[in-house]
Amino acid sequence: MAKLEFEHLLSPLRLAGAARGSLLQLKHRVVMAPLTRTRNDPLTYAPRHINALYYTQRTSDGGLIITEATAVSASAEGYLRAPGMYTEAHIDGWRLVTDAVHAKGGFVFSQLFHAGRVSHSHLLPEGVSPVAPSPVRAEGNAHTKLGKFPFEEPRALDSKEMEEIVKDFALAATRAVKEAGFDGIELHAGNGYLLQEFLAKKTNLRTDRYGGSIQNRAKFLLEVVDACVAAIGAERVAIKLQQGATFSDLVEPEDDSLAQLAYLGPQLQSRNLAYVCMSSLNYDPYYKFLGLEKPNFETDVFQYFRKHYQGTLMVNGGLSPQAAERYLEEGTADLACFGVLFIANANLVALLAAGKEMNLGGWDTKIWYGPQDPADDEKGYTDWPFVDPNNANAK
Ligand SMILES: Cc1cc2nc3c(=O)[nH]c(=O)nc-3n(C[C@H](O)[C@H](O)[C@H](O)COP(=O)(O)O)c2cc1C
Repeated sequence: MAKLEFEHLLSPLRLAGAARGSLLQLKHRVVMAPLTRTRNDPLTYAPRHINALYYTQRTSDGGLIITEATAVSASAEGYLRAPGMYTEAHIDGWRLVTDAVHAKGGFVFSQLFHAGRVSHSHLLPEGVSPVAPSPVRAEGNAHTKLGKFPFEEPRALDSKEMEEIVKDFALAATRAVKEAGFDGIELHAGNGYLLQEFLAKKTNLRTDRYGGSIQNRAKFLLEVVDACVAAIGAERVAIKLQQGATFSDLVEPEDDSLAQLAYLGPQLQSRNLAYVCMSSLNYDPYYKFLGLEKPNFETDVFQYFRKHYQGTLMVNGGLSPQAAERYLEEGTADLACFGVLFIANANLVALLAAGKEMNLGGWDTKIWYGPQDPADDEKGYTDWPFVDPNNANAK
């Protein structure tokens, strides 16, 4: 097979904020995307040795990993066995992960989130129910210890509660970096969770200063960004924006999402964050899995967003390494992150460098989330055969 060329993907990059002393001198631009795999401790939801092993397998020298969506508080949870960043057990568990990634020369950011309306009382502490900008229920089901239940109508947050959530994000960011050993954090503003619920017209019906215009709907998100920047420094804060995802019953019309990105781009650029990840889920297999119709948006959202944001830009969503290479080469993006490809190709970077073919086994959606029996956690998680990139017989 002819050797594949990924000159741009495999070239080094210093993340934004480096001028102020950031340690993040990446040796290449192939990033592992955050992937919820629901295989954390069944009781505490803290990462364990098996989770550290999974991330270590996917660590490359000088490469960046973004860990799975992690709840900023007990009230922010949305999934069984998805981790948090708010107990000592979580911090100790994450230490296992960050120490192991650093020992192999990698960098690691924690993706922080609040599930908002995409949760259920059975997943939350006693007496707590899902919250959102407005009482707009999501179609679909929550998977809880007591079984599958339709999402509940969320309660609209008041401004005092919103202040508390901003503080929860800042505290989780602080703990992630100062106690758990992460190099930075990525705020999750996609997949229909709380931050995106504020951005979207469909879920934000507020009439106060957090609702209505694009600027108002972006206010809560920017308050969270600013609080995290104040807590740990802009060079350690990143954000994932998303367009075209129908995950969690939240797809925004293309014109509104583009207008919003045009506003958010300069706002985020002026804050000089580590990076912005622009993710688009406008591709087929994901929709097949979700059993939903794909929104066929017309504008290339990566090229569009680049016009409005000249800071460090990561692109994501159904990208082949070849497509990502083209976006880097044309100057649209500085980094690319890959999700499904990293599931079955732990040493993705070495395989790309050697021009080896990818294992597409990660598209077996049955292994995406944790098995019924935690004893089977390693299946489809840490048990993928390792392809030696130096072995001439390996495909
Ligand atoms: C099993 C699975 C879990 C995911 N979990 C998260 C998550 O925790 N946070 C997030 O931002 N995106 C999550 N995503 C989306 C991925 O980060 C990524 O945006 C998406 O898979 C598209 O990139 P890809 O085509 O390279 O996989 C998940 C995707 C998959 C397949």
